[in-house]
Amino acid sequence: MAKYIIQGGNRLEGEVEIKGAKNSILPILAATVISGEVSKISNIPQLRDVEVMTKILLSIGAKVEKEGDQLLIDTSSIDKTQLPEELVREMRSSIILMGALLARFGEVSVSYPGGCEIGPRPIDLHLKSLRQMGAIIEESHGFLHCRSLGLQGADIQLDYPSVGATENIMLAASIAEGRTIIRNAAREPEIIDLQDYLRKAGAKIKGAGTSVITVEGVPSLKGCSHRIIPDRIVAGTLMVAATITKGEMVVKDIVVEHLQSTVAKLRETGANIFINGNAIKLIGPERVEPIELLQTLPYPGFPTDMQAQFMALLTIGNGTSIINETVFENRFKHAEELVRMGANIKTFGKVAVIKGVKELTGARMYAKDLRGGAALVLAGLAAEGITEVENTFHISRGYENFHNLLQGLGANISCVK
Ligand code: UD1
Repeated sequence: MAKYIIQGGNRLEGEVEIKGAKNSILPILAATVISGEVSKISNIPQLRDVEVMTKILLSIGAKVEKEGDQLLIDTSSIDKTQLPEELVREMRSSIILMGALLARFGEVSVSYPGGCEIGPRPIDLHLKSLRQMGAIIEESHGFLHCRSLGLQGADIQLDYPSVGATENIMLAASIAEGRTIIRNAAREPEIIDLQDYLRKAGAKIKGAGTSVITVEGVPSLKGCSHRIIPDRIVAGTLMVAATITKGEMVVKDIVVEHLQSTVAKLRETGANIFINGNAIKLIGPERVEPIELLQTLPYPGFPTDMQAQFMALLTIGNGTSIINETVFENRFKHAEELVRMGANIKTFGKVAVIKGVKELTGARMYAKDLRGGAALVLAGLAAEGITEVENTFHISRGYENFHNLLQGLGANISCVK
């Protein structure tokens, strides 16, 4: 299996253009299923999660063609509603196909999904909401069998603003009969992007970006073209890379508003940040200041997907920082790896206390999930000596050619198969 070898100590310098957001691409690819026509989705980086979603679409009969950074998806030929177990296990987000397939075909079978190992990640809110819309869902032997004789609009109060559940309901509701209201909806930028796609496809939907989304079901959707919004997590990860290496970087083609919470916390660490239109210039501080409290929350709060990268940064802070991970349980697997590099971290359930050390030292480590894996690479860039990060496939789920990108910015990193 591939691993990264990093010789730490180089300052990262340069400019990077940010491509489309993985977390927008996956639900929008699922949404293309509903129309049964051809959609053209652009600004798509080469990511393992996108490949898995493409394979799932192919396996149920869709035709997918890649042209540069565009995917042409023809969903007219879909003739199966059972999702392949091994692919679903590989990527939890495949659960997003439930709403889409149920809406179009009135049935779908799927095994319980996999994905990053960060806590139990239940799907009870997805199932409860789809049931409220009239789906009959039976669970047996690790499989979910769902069917309906036509979904009905419903007034749904989410117990938690789950991103995936909000998206699944939006998809199911787009061609359901009548009006669906989603209350306490997730407000992430990717939800707005999904709404934008659905509107182009003919859906009547409003409110994305607020806590209440309203969908008036229409009889059918049509194919359309859509450009994916920039990936705020990739941009944020690179900004941490510049900060941790005392570097200087410009991230371009971003939506600055999507990065406000990350920018605010990076400023607390002493990074100098200048905003100019759709670009951010960051100059790393000589010594990283600690953060009194970094608390992950649903958007517009600080993203859980940036927590691991910040933990890596705070290990070399000039004092003690506290992280409170409120979104996922068990999302501190990177902490034990960072400790092996000399970091001083103690975790207590959802809280981590990080006492900054002067320097990390290179070690051999294992990526255990996507963002945690990226965090280990960031730590390696700043560490003294050589760091090896095994299991890079986790990282390639969400970062396109991560080592090439970092090399281009001056990092001494190679990928060994
Ligand atoms: C999405 C993102 C992921 C991000 C997360 C939170 C995609 C493909 N993935 O994941 O990168 O980390 O949002 O911003 O967009 N929950 C339940 N029951 C449910 C659904 C969720 O209890 O039915 C819980 C989860 O266990 C978790 C919390 O709600 O503790 C947030 O999960 P959710 O917002 O659904 O995240 P995902 O959509 O899985």
